[in-house]
Order: sequence, then C-alpha cells, then structure tokens
Amino acid sequence: MIPLLNASGCLDALTAPEVAQSLDAFVTKTVTPLPREGNPPLRFAETESGMLNSIGLQNPGIESFVAENVPLLAQLDVPLWVSVGGFSAADYALMCGRLDDSDEVAVIELNLSCPNVEEAPETAAELVASARAATRKPLYAKLSPATWDIAESARAVADAGADGLSLINTIRGLAIERASPRPALARGAGGYSGPALKPIALACVWACAAAVDLPILGMGGVFTSEDAADFVSAGASAVALGTALFADPWSPRRIRAALAAMDAPEVIAGGGIRHVPTTSREL
Ligand SMILES: Cc1cc2nc3c(=O)[nH]c(=O)nc-3n(C[C@H](O)[C@H](O)[C@H](O)COP(=O)(O)O)c2cc1C
Repeated sequence: MIPLLNASGCLDALTAPEVAQSLDAFVTKTVTPLPREGNPPLRFAETESGMLNSIGLQNPGIESFVAENVPLLAQLDVPLWVSVGGFSAADYALMCGRLDDSDEVAVIELNLSCPNVEEAPETAAELVASARAATRKPLYAKLSPATWDIAESARAVADAGADGLSLINTIRGLAIERASPRPALARGAGGYSGPALKPIALACVWACAAAVDLPILGMGGVFTSEDAADFVSAGASAVALGTALFADPWSPRRIRAALAAMDAPEVIAGGGIRHVPTTSREL
C-alpha cells in the first residue's frame, strides 16, 4: 500500500487529530529558529486550477515548538516528521541539533524552498551538509521545482547527506484582483499549489528518481487515488496530500480506500525506489 502523509503546512494535527491519525506519518508546518507571524493578509487566493498562498512560515519558533507542540503531537501516536526552515546554514544546524535527541521526532524535513520568504545565501547542498553535521536523524530535503535542473540539485543534496527527497514545494505565482486591479495577495506573488502543479511535480519525481537512489515523498496536486498511483509510477515511494486537505480533510481515508480497491503500483522496498522510514531507526 502506498504510504500517505500530509504536505507540510496543510494540516494542523492538533486541530484535526483524527485526520492526522489517518496518515502514515504527520509532517509539521515548517518551524524556524525564532517565532514568525508570517506575511500580512490577504494570504490566500483561489485561481482557475490551483491555490495561491503567502503564509510566510508563520510558526511559534523552535523553543516553544519543542516545549509545547512536540509533547502534544507525540500523544497522537503517529510518526512525526518535523519540517524545519531557516535563513542560513547555521539556522539549519541549530534546528537539527535541537531536534536530534528528541525521541518523538522520526524524520526531519528540510524546507529548502519556500517561495514566500527570503532565501538563505547558501546552496541547498550546503544547507543539507550543515544539517547533516548536526543530527543523526533521517533528513528529507524538500526541493523547489523552480530550478534549471532538479536532478542536479538532487545529486548535490544526496552527496551532502540527505536520506530522502520531498518533491515538490509550491512554485511562485500571482493572481490579479480585477476590481482594483492589483495582486490578490498582499505580498504580490505567492506559492502556487493544487492540480496545476501535478505534471510539474511528476516531472521532478521522474527526473530525481533516475538521478539518485533515495526514497522520494511525492506531492503536488494529489486529489485522488489515481493521482497518488501516478506519483509512485513516476518513482515516488510515498505520497503527500496538500491542497486536497483544505477541500476535503478526509481525503486520506477516501484515497486509501480507493487505492485498496484498485490495481495500484507497488512501492518497491530495497530497489531503486526505497521504503520511506517512519521511525528514525529505520535508516
Ligand atoms: C497553505 C499552505 C502552506 C504551506 N506551508 C508550507 C510549509 O510551511 N513548509 C513547506 O515545506 N511547504 C509548505 N507548503 C507546500 C506544501 O507542503 C506542498 O509542497 C505544496 O502545496 C504542493 O502540494 P499540493 O499541490 O498537494 O498542495 C504549503 C502549502 C500551502 C498550500
């Protein structure tokens, strides 16, 4: 059966614990070293074939997250993936070091690609290397589709010590609110997600699966069991639901039931496509 996770930032497990418990692992919203209020509203806009958001990594900061959120999330009894972000290689090292001795954390996902905040000056590989030096936890590198050659990025982060890839983050987009006429989002551009992202995401998964021997968590416009199966056919070993959870919080249950009833492609364990770990001891 294809493991189903949520995409970071698309499910609040403490507000909807039963939805989180219907997943094979829960991925947190990206946490940063210091608390962030995020960008000013409006931060969501619908478009013809996807959604724009410019949340800007709103989160309580790592200290409050570890003290207050992690114990509550651990009670859900779902493998916990913590997404971390930052603005320099030192930030990634600090975050990973802080989570390293937390038994509750199964996997750390490195958000290397948020389109709604300033980017770190270092390359993705340098950020992964910095994180790798700070923790023994499995590290998933989340890459942006907005790159000339994503396979090259995949090889670089694999060489730097990533244990898996999360593909893909949103891509920058903009909608015009015609009455003004000004950008619909206060920040102007935002991250574009949903159905229009799926072919872009599949191309990224396909290219990276051919380039590196790492497990891939595929995401981007997954709404149905067929979408999930397409990601596995392209080379993913697990699939995450993002925008779909806003439209239908019970989509994991619906998709799981439909996958059980269809002839879905098998996730190959131990081959070119490897098993996605749900505990830190599996790698
Ligand atoms: C409202 C919203 C918030 C998001 N926040 C984060 C985040 O904090 N960290 C992250 O790595 N990705 C974040 N993402 C990107 C998703 O995790 C996912 O990569 C992307 O939405 C593509 O999947 P989808 O088309 O199924 O939504 C966010 C997406 C949305 C729609």
